[in-house]
Amino acid sequence: MRSDFLRSTPFRLTVLLGAAFLVALAIAGFVAFELIRQELAARVDQTVTDAFTIISQSYGEDDVADLGDAVRSHAGATLRHERVYALTDKAGTVLAGNVTRVPPGSGWATVGAGALGVTDNTDDYRIFSGEVGSYTLLVGSSYGETKAIGRLTLVSLAWAGGLLVALILVTGVVVAARGQRRLDGIASTMHRVGRGELTARIATTGRGDDIDALVGEVNAALDRLSALVESMRQVSVDIAHDLKTPLNRLAITVESAIEADEAGKPVAAWLRQAQEEGVRINATFDALLRIAQIEAGARRARFTSVAPGTILERIADAYGEVAVEHGQTLRLTAADGLPPVSGDRDLMLQVLANLVENAIRHCPPGASIVLSGRIDDGRVELSVADNGPGIPAEERDKVFRRLYRVEKSRTTPGSGLGLSLVKAVADLHGATVTLRDNAPGLVVAVRFPRHTPAL
Ligand SMILES: Nc1ncnc2c1ncn2[C@@H]1O[C@H](COP(=O)(O)OP(=O)(O)OP(=O)(O)O)[C@@H](O)[C@H]1O
Ligand SMILES: [Mg+2]
Repeated sequence: MRSDFLRSTPFRLTVLLGAAFLVALAIAGFVAFELIRQELAARVDQTVTDAFTIISQSYGEDDVADLGDAVRSHAGATLRHERVYALTDKAGTVLAGNVTRVPPGSGWATVGAGALGVTDNTDDYRIFSGEVGSYTLLVGSSYGETKAIGRLTLVSLAWAGGLLVALILVTGVVVAARGQRRLDGIASTMHRVGRGELTARIATTGRGDDIDALVGEVNAALDRLSALVESMRQVSVDIAHDLKTPLNRLAITVESAIEADEAGKPVAAWLRQAQEEGVRINATFDALLRIAQIEAGARRARFTSVAPGTILERIADAYGEVAVEHGQTLRLTAADGLPPVSGDRDLMLQVLANLVENAIRHCPPGASIVLSGRIDDGRVELSVADNGPGIPAEERDKVFRRLYRVEKSRTTPGSGLGLSLVKAVADLHGATVTLRDNAPGLVVAVRFPRHTPAL
């Protein structure tokens, strides 16, 4: 846990950012230190020049006494040899001043305290020696103050750096701990989901930050996942349940055939019945597989621009006669001027065929069936209306389930997969299917989004 924490992204980011700040501080500190040092050195030179000028001005007309006095009074006014003064004659003898030794040469020089014979100050000196009449005047200033200020600058920078490091570490730990807690929450929830607890959801802080947005997406994905798993489970149970009946019927028919055979009676009729049952069961499985294949979405790649008017006309042509045979009428209204939709032509034909077949099958003779198309709210709506028995409001959701049939339809042939296929195709097309009361009868409307040409 400890090493995980140090490796956590927020902690590493904070430390990285802190290190960048520290480097910036070091560079800025170095530049500031250099500037201050140069400024102080220039001031020391200025002080020395000023003192030299003042003292040398007291020399007039070979009067060395005034010069000696000036040097003595300056030397007397300095403590711990902060400033050094010396007046020497041609032979190098120190006539006045606060040093015992004078380094040779003239002009600017930087010398150690020892070169001046100073013992109570260990700092280096900046000195200037110049001729005043026939004498040599030396004025100097120790670097003590410069060094002290330099040291102070370094100490301040070190403190700032130290505080920064401490602050970075504390911030890093706090930020990382908070981030880690949220990541742990996400990880533990995902772990629970992985173990099959599909209702587990990640808590959000409500702050609406980036992690909350991510958590929202993950939770939404989990919602979809659990809905999907639940519907799969439901479908499996439904299928197993609904296929029991035809399989039982098959078993009973085969049993009857065996009994007839044992009794020496003809068995062909029983076997034919068994064969028909087998064909029906096979057809049901084919339809189930077809729905599953459509739901997998692979056919979306085959979408083209389809004219809905032609679909309606084809269906009206194909089923007009069938309706008449059932003593019903099939009419097509308003199929002109519909904009194209993106879709799979064969599947769209299959949808309309299933709906018209339902109307023919589930309505009594004398019923009238109306096929129509219109534009509604920017979408293309294709509908099949009849004036038959309709579907009760509380059954309208259930009829889309696989193998589900309304109780009173149990006597008609069919497997209860027609509307499931309609729904699967509609979902594939981004279309919606609605069942409405036609008072009396049923209207099934499929609303397709309009075709948008690929950019
Ligand atoms: N136009 C309609 N009028 C009245 N009831 C209908 C209509 N269309 C569908 N239904 C009801 O909805 C149920 C489900 O329809 P669906 O098309 O899924 O199955 P089916 O028609 O029974 O069988 P098949 O798989 O052969 O289509 C039907 O059993 C029927 O009870
Ligand atoms: Mg049907």
